[in-house]
Amino acid sequence: MKVRKAIIPAAGLGTRMLPNTKSIPKEMLPLVDKPVIQYIVEEAVSAGIEEILIITNRGKSSMEDYFDYAPDLEKALLRDGKTRECETIRAAADMADVFYLRQKETKGLGHAVWRAKSFVGNEPFAVLLGDDIMLSETPVLRQLVDAAEKYGCSAIAAREVDDAHIVKYSSLQISPLEDRIYRIHDMNEKPTLSEKLSNYAILGRYVLTPEIFSILESTPPGRNNEIQLTDGMRELCHQQSMVAVDFEGKRYDTGNLCGYLEATIDFALRNAEVGPWLREFMREKLAD
Ligand code: UTP
Repeated sequence: MKVRKAIIPAAGLGTRMLPNTKSIPKEMLPLVDKPVIQYIVEEAVSAGIEEILIITNRGKSSMEDYFDYAPDLEKALLRDGKTRECETIRAAADMADVFYLRQKETKGLGHAVWRAKSFVGNEPFAVLLGDDIMLSETPVLRQLVDAAEKYGCSAIAAREVDDAHIVKYSSLQISPLEDRIYRIHDMNEKPTLSEKLSNYAILGRYVLTPEIFSILESTPPGRNNEIQLTDGMRELCHQQSMVAVDFEGKRYDTGNLCGYLEATIDFALRNAEVGPWLREFMREKLAD
């Protein structure tokens, strides 16, 4: 099973990050020295993805500009001897073949993924949520692709979370297959504590078989009156094998303020240019 294509659904309204996200897509918010979306595209590329479709919405065209060439800016940078800056912005545009499709109506994640049907065609594909940033030695998507290839089926990222979080995610009913990999028997979206199937939650990365599209086509709106990807995957896991990968690495939900700040501080501390300065600055601040 070769996974060549990825979808990044980025058409959500980003209401948890308002007023920032009124006119800036949350995927374009900066994480230290580059926007969130670049980390996602970098993860996809390092997992072997060749073509990426970003599902966008009105007011999100800055993402298209970001992955395009900027001839005037590049010329001005070269004229001023800023070769490194010029190479950096060029590299972002050359990372991958990026395509765009508007969702047109914000009808939920399942609907956004369904819109990618003709881009994907009849092959397995990856989905990376535009606000979930993963920090790991082996890219989390690579870990999923390896599992999907090994078991010849869909694979989704999962992690055990506490009760306060499971009600905000999707819960999984699973049984162990090998270290960190589980067979999925069932799942449900944003369960109440009495509905939860376990504390294993689905988190932001998926490798799916194309059969999901015909299922999503007839999946009715679920939680929050949105077409939920989890409802579609639930049907898929009843029709075919599906595995969950308890991935190695740290995950940040940059779609809420605390997760965004956590990622910003962690990434800044790891940054060679500003890390040492920030560490000193924080030491002084905390001693105040
Ligand atoms: P979220 O649940 O995080 O929703 O969507 P959101 O609208 O982006 O943010 P909040 O909750 O209002 O703050 C999960 C992912 O699905 C995408 C989002 O862009 C995000 O990456 N999505 C959601 C779509 O692409 N289309 C939709 O209709 C809904």
